[in-house]
Amino acid sequence: MTQAKALKALTLVFAGFSGLGGIGPATLSPSVAVAQESMPASSASVDATSPDGRTEISLATANGQPVYTVTRDGKPLIAQSKLGLRFASGANLDRGFEITETAADSHDETWQQPWGEKRTVRDLHNEITARFTSTDDGPERSFTVRARVFDAGVAFRYEVPDTGERALVDEITEFAVEPNATSWWTPAGEYNRYEYIYKTTPVRDIYRVHTPYTLKYDVEGADGPYLAIHEAALVDYAGMWLDQRRAGVLEAELAPRHDGTKVKIDGAFKTPWRVIQIADTAAGLVNGADIYLNLNAPNQLGDVSYFEPGKYVGIWWGMHINKYTWGSGPDHGATTGNTKRYIDFAAENGFSGVLVEGWNIGWDGDWFNNGDKFRFAEPYPDFDIEALSDYAANKGVKLIGHHETAANLPNYESQLDAAFQLYRDNGYSTVKTGYVADASDLVLEDEEGFRRYGWHAGQERVVHDLNVLKKAHEYGLAINAHEPVKDTGLRRTYPNAVSREGARGMEFNAWGSPPNPPEHTAILPYTRLLAGPMDFTPGIFDLMPNGEDNENRIQTTLAKQLALYVVIYSPVQMAADLPENYEANPEPFQFIKDVPADWETSIALDGEVGDFIVQARKDRKSDDWYVGALTDETARTVSVPLDFLDDGRSYTAEIYRDGEDADWQTNPYAITIESRTVTAPDTLELPLASSGGAAVRLVAGR
Ligand code: NOJ
Ligand code: CA
Repeated sequence: MTQAKALKALTLVFAGFSGLGGIGPATLSPSVAVAQESMPASSASVDATSPDGRTEISLATANGQPVYTVTRDGKPLIAQSKLGLRFASGANLDRGFEITETAADSHDETWQQPWGEKRTVRDLHNEITARFTSTDDGPERSFTVRARVFDAGVAFRYEVPDTGERALVDEITEFAVEPNATSWWTPAGEYNRYEYIYKTTPVRDIYRVHTPYTLKYDVEGADGPYLAIHEAALVDYAGMWLDQRRAGVLEAELAPRHDGTKVKIDGAFKTPWRVIQIADTAAGLVNGADIYLNLNAPNQLGDVSYFEPGKYVGIWWGMHINKYTWGSGPDHGATTGNTKRYIDFAAENGFSGVLVEGWNIGWDGDWFNNGDKFRFAEPYPDFDIEALSDYAANKGVKLIGHHETAANLPNYESQLDAAFQLYRDNGYSTVKTGYVADASDLVLEDEEGFRRYGWHAGQERVVHDLNVLKKAHEYGLAINAHEPVKDTGLRRTYPNAVSREGARGMEFNAWGSPPNPPEHTAILPYTRLLAGPMDFTPGIFDLMPNGEDNENRIQTTLAKQLALYVVIYSPVQMAADLPENYEANPEPFQFIKDVPADWETSIALDGEVGDFIVQARKDRKSDDWYVGALTDETARTVSVPLDFLDDGRSYTAEIYRDGEDADWQTNPYAITIESRTVTAPDTLELPLASSGGAAVRLVAGR
């Protein structure tokens, strides 16, 4: 008998005590020792089952070690995995424990997002808590593990009572997965934060990866399930990486603090939720990603109506392709004249925002390493912020702010009030922040005023980001962070956290070596984008800004650029190219003008990780639907049944698809734009070229 099966048997002993549909014993039964070859003696196990009855988590101890297992349809999914926390001083929470108290609960609530990929979210789950108590190695101590089981996956967190001021040095949470499962990942703990090309390998070949870490259980011809391991509600803690120990045994590795410890604790604390998303299909992972929102606390900010979802243009790509500079000089991008031109373009084409980078003092010289030079309330002399804010307001457009900090936290923090006041005075409502620096070179200051270096997702940065959000809210500002801490669903609690980067975005196509490969945006929806909105900045129409022979050309067709507006969700969605490239291509540009950035609902219809995706979304302000489909380097035709449309209603489908001979390498601009009438029983056949795509607007008839 495998370990997992043995644990299952143990759990079954208790199933008979369950009187609470799907939830294990609420009061603990006498401890049962099941001696199995590979199964250590255990106290008791408690379990909870998903509302659909398919997924089950069991909490138990094995030789005094707190452990958990997860099964799906009765089969092992996460084999027996350790739970525990270790500290620099005082008693650890890892050995000699037994379960002394349990409680069960279930929850069904529907709540609304002020903006989002869907308006209404349902939180339906069963919950079990287990109190683990130890009298081993020191004074009696206890902690609680709270586990929730949704149809879309399982989650658990530690709740630890007050034991004073301590340093957490190791979270030993394991995820014992199938070592031969295929997985999609970026390396963690390396210099470029989350900005890496995804790799596709069996689990057994990884060393240290970021989350969401996505796996497909495809051994022996199996076609799933799909898993994504991630975290929710990362607050006052360190971001979690996953390290592989024994084959298939992943262990939480926390991004360090400047002093090498992991989390500074003072009093009672709760860890973020450790989440294992589970789905039968790749599209199912995308559709189940609201699990992260459900695991975050409700809105604590109240009214955030100062933020309205929308599309923007900006003085941005011009710097990345060396047409302009951020710093002062003859090619300075952020001039009053240039900004007026962008405001005019935005107003003429229905964009609500204009981002301007390089407008403030500090960019001259080696800005990467001179974060202390940035002045966030001092424009360059050729950027007249007051005149521009009036000019924008008269045209019904808002400027979007930019704060590049070069990851110098003290310099930014000391100017936050002045910086946000300036933006508020000038009618801004969104600020893009940036933290460019090697991942371990985040500049900090300790209590004694010494310069220290921290990690990008270490506790200090996590705390900083939340402080910035709270402060921004005081000034009526929303934040779009680049070089961010990964998204863990905090936008539910702090809905001015509107978007972020946190993966390779479009900028890598301007200068990345190599640029993003064709499969990049066919992997993102199933990995990074599960976590939340991304400011990817799509919509480049000049696919060869550095010339045809340059390594840095955009490895997509033009139609695929349009598809990105539906596939990648962000409530601030950029049309990233230069205005002249849109003016020269008015027909495809029409789709960017039409597509919304705020949705009533979203459904991933089909896809496979790294191959393709078909995503449908319904506009929040009308009855129109939009479909985006894109593929990797393999051309394919996707069938899109339109059964999500209203019965009995006809729609005009405005289809933007790859032209007959389109191919990202040889003929990327070929695009066919056509219109036809469709109804719910119809199926659209969308031919996608090599690294191609399709974007469809379905305009509801009366
Ligand atoms: C990196 C950001 O991702 C990019 O959008 C920005 O233009 C540069 N940093 C400069 O702040
Ligand atoms: Ca970046």
